[in-house]
Amino acid sequence: MATWAIQTWDVSAYYGKGQRRVEALKDVSLQVRQGEIFGLLGPNGAGKTTLLSCIEGLHRPDRGSICVAGVDVLRNPTQAKRRLGVQLQRAALIEGLTAVELVEVYAALYDVYPARHAIMALLNRFGLADQAHKRAKQMSGGQQQRLALAIALVTDPQIVLLDEPTEGLDPHARRALWAMIRTIRDESRTVVITTHRMDEAESLCGQVAIMDAGRVVACDAPGQMIAAMDARPVLRAAVELSAEAAQPLDGAVRVRRSGEYLEVETTDPMATLQSLYALAARHGRAVRDITVRQPSLEDVYLRLTGRTLG
Ligand SMILES: Nc1ncnc2c1ncn2[C@@H]1O[C@H](COP(=O)(O)OP(=O)(O)OP(=O)(O)O)[C@@H](O)[C@H]1O
Ligand SMILES: [Mg+2]
Repeated sequence: MATWAIQTWDVSAYYGKGQRRVEALKDVSLQVRQGEIFGLLGPNGAGKTTLLSCIEGLHRPDRGSICVAGVDVLRNPTQAKRRLGVQLQRAALIEGLTAVELVEVYAALYDVYPARHAIMALLNRFGLADQAHKRAKQMSGGQQQRLALAIALVTDPQIVLLDEPTEGLDPHARRALWAMIRTIRDESRTVVITTHRMDEAESLCGQVAIMDAGRVVACDAPGQMIAAMDARPVLRAAVELSAEAAQPLDGAVRVRRSGEYLEVETTDPMATLQSLYALAARHGRAVRDITVRQPSLEDVYLRLTGRTLG
């Protein structure tokens, strides 16, 4: 078995011609290890969906090459496709069909004809046993997302590609879906997800690639990215003290005011907090609403793309 689930070399892809030409991917080179959850992050229009389409063989890149489980997608598209399970966008669920029928239809596209009990087991796995004979349009958003996952797995693929699988879900449903995605990984499959949520990427993904305007601007394990940024925790508290007055606090590296809050980048949050209390007491001020925030993937993302995610 190949070590890499997905490899791309200098993949560039365009849409349109002439003045309307959009360069959606620019020299994208990535390696996705087998058996891990790999996250593609980036603002709207970064090229995430285009990259997935190229990997799926739906969009032909203008330059570069792509291998899926060692199979060249451009030379052997049919063989490559057999290794992939793709989560359909919700819109692609034909509304008039029931869950069972949808699973059957998509399996048949891959020449796979599962027995009814296998389909029921699959639906059951994703908490959809009681939805088996419901039409897609009668299902909630969360149920449709889970049905899309079930469909992605019906061909027993080595690699599963999920484009914004948790978009539009409430926090509870989102976490339930994370658990399902982990079970897919635990079966030794490789999962690639796109997401706009940093907490999701940090919690789920072994590796993430941050994309911006068609390029990969960083690719690493979330923890490594955060460590490489060399950022410090930030102590935040509502207190009526100026940034200048707070500058000498123990452990403080940088101090600034943000509205009624004092924000202190610190090497030692506990020491800073203690000396903040002492300082506030000397000035007869109260300290309220204290939080300490560790540097996160959100900070990395902000530094690399200059944007926050909505
Ligand atoms: N079918 C298309 N025709 C023309 N341009 C397109 C097409 N699809 C995407 N693009 C353009 O290609 C670029 C990359 O789009 P893509 O959909 O891959 O981004 P994305 O990272 O998936 O964004 P989002 O987070 O909004 O889903 C964008 O500039 C987009 O406008
Ligand atoms: Mg997209």
